[in-house]
Amino acid sequence: MKVLIKDGKALVVADAAARIGDHVSHYPDATLGLATGGTMTPVYQELARRHREDGLSFADITSFNLDEYIGLPPSHPRSYRRDMEDRLFAHIDIKRTRTHIPAGDAADPEAEARTYEARIEAAGGIDLQLLGIGVNGHIGFNEPSSSLGSTTRIKRLAPSTIEANRRFFKADEAIPTHAITVGIQTIMRAGMILLLATGERKAEAVAAMIEGPVSTFCPASALQFHPNVTVLLDPAAASRLALKDFYLAIHPNGEDQDLL
Ligand code: GLP
Repeated sequence: MKVLIKDGKALVVADAAARIGDHVSHYPDATLGLATGGTMTPVYQELARRHREDGLSFADITSFNLDEYIGLPPSHPRSYRRDMEDRLFAHIDIKRTRTHIPAGDAADPEAEARTYEARIEAAGGIDLQLLGIGVNGHIGFNEPSSSLGSTTRIKRLAPSTIEANRRFFKADEAIPTHAITVGIQTIMRAGMILLLATGERKAEAVAAMIEGPVSTFCPASALQFHPNVTVLLDPAAASRLALKDFYLAIHPNGEDQDLL
């Protein structure tokens, strides 16, 4: 894992957007794995700005989102489809037919999950997977106890996840309890992974992911087996890393330079 500790959240966002933007420029027909969550909001804003001001084009990009709440139709204001539409798709030139998010209102969610996995495979897999991390170490909605060999399926959300998501829902709105999520294996098959975490509340999960044992207790720890993972952290999210000084010595200021 390449652990880059940036001097603040703004630099995490700038670095992530630069990497995604460069990837899109070099591989205009790439397949991106996209994530939701508040951490991604400024990243998507910066990608939209690059599209608007620098002409970065997503016209031939294909995207697959990680997950969707079960029970919410795509038009629901809190669905991840609407969220992606509002935060990114409406602001860039990506073709809607090339954007994929599981259908949360599918009559048969299990069949929808299987079809989604098959669609990713048929597209040739994910080239660059963008990830956030949950406070309990989940990636996508792969909660603790998720099989590290899992593919797209239905998952029940952990209480801490439901609690963390409360801020996105109105007080009188029911918060979904289940989701369709790509699996850990689906994520592990991506060519490259870029994971972002900011803020103190992610520090414990980040330490378990990078330095803990590989275990379903922290699903993100499976990424230790992936050969091409870059983790972008701000100092708060990195605060519980035992080897923080070592990572900073290898990558001063979180710069990604040649090692020798
Ligand atoms: C949700 C998403 C995850 C995301 C996580 C963290 O649970 N399914 O993909 O990583 O939220 O969200 P935030 O960035 O808001 O902390």
